Formats: sequence, structure tokens, C-alpha cells
Amino acid sequence: MTVDKTYEMMVNKLGKIIPDVELRYKSELVVEINDLKKEKNAVILGHNYMEPALFYTVPDYVGDSLELSRKAADTDKDIIVFCGVRFMAETAKILNPNKTVLLPSAKGGCSLAASITADDVRMLKKKFPGVPIITYINTYADVKAEVDVCCTSGNARAVVESFAEDTVIFLPDEYLARNVAKETGKKIVFPTAVSASGSVGKNQVIGWGGRCEVHEKFTANDIANARKQFPDVVVLAHPECPPDVVELSDYSGSTTAMVNYVKQTDAHRYLVLTECSMGDNIAAENPDKEMVRICSIRCPHMNEITLEETRDALKYIQHKIEVPEEIRLKAKKSVDRMLSIRPNMARD
Ligand code: 13P
Ligand code: SF4
Repeated sequence: MTVDKTYEMMVNKLGKIIPDVELRYKSELVVEINDLKKEKNAVILGHNYMEPALFYTVPDYVGDSLELSRKAADTDKDIIVFCGVRFMAETAKILNPNKTVLLPSAKGGCSLAASITADDVRMLKKKFPGVPIITYINTYADVKAEVDVCCTSGNARAVVESFAEDTVIFLPDEYLARNVAKETGKKIVFPTAVSASGSVGKNQVIGWGGRCEVHEKFTANDIANARKQFPDVVVLAHPECPPDVVELSDYSGSTTAMVNYVKQTDAHRYLVLTECSMGDNIAAENPDKEMVRICSIRCPHMNEITLEETRDALKYIQHKIEVPEEIRLKAKKSVDRMLSIRPNMARD
């Protein structure tokens, strides 16, 4: 597509939320990236938190962590550019050892992934022998290599319910663990509160203390204030939010589940308690609906991924993701097991 056509397309989609001067400049970058993508036989995967000018232009696929893991497992391209954060790109590499996987930034971390190490998991295994261990996909490969299965916000309940054992260890997000425990009717406990011998009771979720630095900021008060100001507002919250926030919201689900909820319901106003670029992306897609913006909270790690960095990653084949083979093989078992679990496979 030419720069003029790309600019026109971007004005139609984003003209109400991005100033013209930015659209002009970005349309040139978009054309450059799409040409490089063809030339290098690459696929671009874009997480729902990418800023609108990137989200709506260069990715071949967009979605939540689970959808993008499935796309990464399926691609036949030589290069995967992951417009997301490091643990997502690492998951793509775990599934595609012979492909080049690029993260368009040398940084792109995640406070949840940084909250736990492989040594921590080994300590938990010693303390709770035989208890199945589930880790949120927001962890690094060496942690995934130590556990039984991964999960995302889109399948956490199904993964917990796929085990015959009624007590599981769920790492590392404290709030997701609390929310999943509530949903599955289990008691939440934390290692320090469990007896030194590690003997645990029945029907428990054993959690960890990791937090998402974005979602932990939302409070029950934010919802109360928004409802006071906009009595008709429909509130959505990501399950990484504190349990009282999830409890007071009208809907909670993965990033894609929330995008679909707004698309498929016909309320006038929505408040989406998650990373704020996703609110912009929803606003662009639903011009007839109003997004209440109490959220100025941008994930600093997702924010590292820009059109410029994406262009440079492809141009110079830079920020390659590598995973040592021994760790990759073990981590792949946890990711494969997750990908084989469908929501309807949950136990009764
Ligand atoms: P999703 O899997 O719901 O897209 O969440 C990923 C994430 O990092 C949320 O903060
Ligand atoms: Fe990690 Fe939170 Fe950023 Fe998601 S929003 S990548 S969980 S820090």
C-alpha cells in the first residue's frame, strides 16, 4: 500500500483519537515496516496493549496472550516479530526454536515475570511435593520449565479445573490467584501461612505475592466514583486487578474477552480497567460508544514497543530472543499442555 493510501486508512480509523501530524509521520513508518515484513518473510504479532497507530496497522494478528501463543504455534514464516513484552516473545521462541523471534526492544519486561525465579519454584516443589504447579504465562522460560502447565487470563479457570487434584499451586500473580480461587470455590493460602512441613488442606489455591504494577493501581473507590459520575457506566476489569475491583465490576475477562464484550453489548458508556492504550483501541473500533478514561496508566514495558523500534527490529534483525535448549524443551511441555486444554475440557 502507498503512503497516501495508508494515511487515508489511518485517518478513517484513528482520525478521532490521533492528531493529523502524528498520522502523517506514522503512515510513512507503517509502509516501511510492511515492505520489510514482506521482504524478510516475517509475521508480526501484536498484543491488545499496543498503541493504536501500531495496533491497527502492522500486525498480521492481534489478540491476548493465549490467542497470540496459538498464532505463534501455527506460523510458517521465517521471522516472528512480537509486538508485546519479553515473556510473550519467549513463548513464541519456545514453540519455534528454528525461527528467528524478535522483540522490538532490548527491555520489554513485566513486573509479574520479575516477581518469581526458577529457584523459588524449586523451593515450592520441595515444600509441597506432589501438588500440581500452574504458572501464569507472564513468567520467564526457566520458571515455565519447572512447572506442570502454564495458563493465561483467558483459560486460568479451565487449567485449574483440568487437574484431578483439588489443591494446586498458582504462580505468581497474587490477585489472579485470588480471583481464580474465588471462581473455582477454593480457599486461597500463601506459602508463609502454610505450616512449615508444607502439609496443606483440601481444595486450596496456594498463591505467590507477584503483582501487575498496572492493575494493582485500580481501586474499589475508582469504580464507586465513576458510577457516581456516570450512573449508566458499564465497568470491565482485567483479572489481574484486586478481587474487590473484579467483584464490583460488571464483567471481568482477558484483554480480548473485554474487547469483545464492548463490541457485543449495546451500552452507551464503558470503563475498562486495564492498560490504557487498549481503551484507545476500543474507542477507535466503537466510535458510537463512549469510553470513560480514568486510566492514564500505561504499562511502561508495553510502552517500549513503538513503530520505530518495530521497523529497526526488522531492518537490522535485532533483539533476537534465545532460550537455552534444555530449558526450552522443559518449558515447551508446560506451554503445550496449556494449548491442549480447551475451556470445555474443564472437570465438573
Ligand atoms: P491478556 O492475556 O489478557 O492479554 O493479559 C496479558 C497481560 O499482560 C495483562 O496485563
Ligand atoms: Fe506485565 Fe502488567 Fe505490563 Fe501486563 S500490564 S505486561 S502484567 S506489567
